[in-house]
Amino acid sequence: MAPRFQAPRGTRDLLPEDLARWQWAEAQARVVLERYGYREIRTPLFEEFELFARTSGESSDVVQKEMYRFKDLGDRDLALRPEFTAGVMRAYLEHGLGGRTRVHRLWSTGPVFRYGRPQKGRYRQFSQLNCELVGSPAPGADVELITLFVDLYEAWGFRDLTVVLNSVGQPESRRVYGDALRAWLAPVHERLSADSQQRLVTNPLRVLDTKDAGDLALFRERGAMPHLLDFLDEADRSHWDAVLAGLESAGITYEVDHGLVRGLDYYTRTAFEVHDRALGAQSALGGGGRYDGLIAELGGPPTPGVGFAIGLDRAMLVLEERGIAAPAPTAGVYVAAMEPTRAAAVGLVRALRRRFPVEFDVEARGFGAQMKAAGRSGARLLVILGEEEWARGAVVVKDLAAGTQETIAREGLEAALAARLAQAPPGRSAGIGAKETEKP
Ligand code: HAM
Repeated sequence: MAPRFQAPRGTRDLLPEDLARWQWAEAQARVVLERYGYREIRTPLFEEFELFARTSGESSDVVQKEMYRFKDLGDRDLALRPEFTAGVMRAYLEHGLGGRTRVHRLWSTGPVFRYGRPQKGRYRQFSQLNCELVGSPAPGADVELITLFVDLYEAWGFRDLTVVLNSVGQPESRRVYGDALRAWLAPVHERLSADSQQRLVTNPLRVLDTKDAGDLALFRERGAMPHLLDFLDEADRSHWDAVLAGLESAGITYEVDHGLVRGLDYYTRTAFEVHDRALGAQSALGGGGRYDGLIAELGGPPTPGVGFAIGLDRAMLVLEERGIAAPAPTAGVYVAAMEPTRAAAVGLVRALRRRFPVEFDVEARGFGAQMKAAGRSGARLLVILGEEEWARGAVVVKDLAAGTQETIAREGLEAALAARLAQAPPGRSAGIGAKETEKP
């Protein structure tokens, strides 16, 4: 019989075996982030709805169709965060971070919420790893950030990722480009999907984001599409050239994608994504870009910024499909007791757990059952409190991997266990970090 309650549509449980991979990935990421000088910031899971409407854009899908918006008991208009950037910038302003030092490197991770149509790699609650470099307008900032983006994936075993990028210019160049796009589509306007016709009025760039097969066929019919890059002003153009040159110096493989527009409205200049074919339709593993107008939009002093978010669910899915497992948890110690030594074992186990992972039978089962459990537990060492040995102040230690056994005095037990656990076990299988992975 199906259980009465199930996780809400678009959400899912991560079980301990899944979390081994997630926690390993987060630990790897923390190392990379620290090397790049990023510091963690944690902001609330919900904010005023208006904050997201202002930043993501009133006409964006995220605000129009995907927001978890609610009133609290005090009648406040709130929403679960659909992304991190807005909340992080709100915190940046609220705490006057800009007045402390000019450039801030900030990262966050946790759940975000979008009411989309659930499918493989697309959930209503999902997790992002988000990074923001706030305060520098320099192309070098874009380059460093994109390099970090790629290095995080590489730390998880992804290889040969190609970053696709574009420049979305400034609101003024986008307006002129929007006119060019309308003119280009004018001959087929009546045959475009209702959605695209609407977008041509409210936010023409977003037409390039259409997944509608009919629209895409019409684009092909129209032939050479105008490119936003040809509409950039001189400053945006030289920023773009410098970013490409910097990526080349950093050894980052990229492709220019004239159709890349991103789903959120706050971007200016550089916009980028990485995709993975294994994910099918929901192929974006992560994306980001520059948002030089966002902080001013929130009422702050004009402050440039550039950032990205990695979709962790999708990245973990790719690793899982490729059969890449997290390293096995440290196999530790199993303590087995006899009836007369059980009380003493409780104290010994507590002492040993200050240093080692220890398993112990809380159900006081017989010795045979404990031996079976020890075998199944994956523990490397078995400590047996035999009545006679314990009376002499000693225990028996069996190395289950090596098949050896010796009697050790209680006082020397911690040191002996530490020494044995530090030795490489015979024939341990490789985990994620241990083997070179192919291109995911
Ligand atoms: P985004 O492109 O909207 O950017 O989301 C980043 C990543 O989150 C996507 O590439 C994808 O991997 C993942 N993602 C998005 N929607 C879903 C979903 N429904 N289920 C699973 N994964 C999903 C942002 O959120 C920007 N805030 C990034 C940024 C930071 N830009 C500047 N700073």
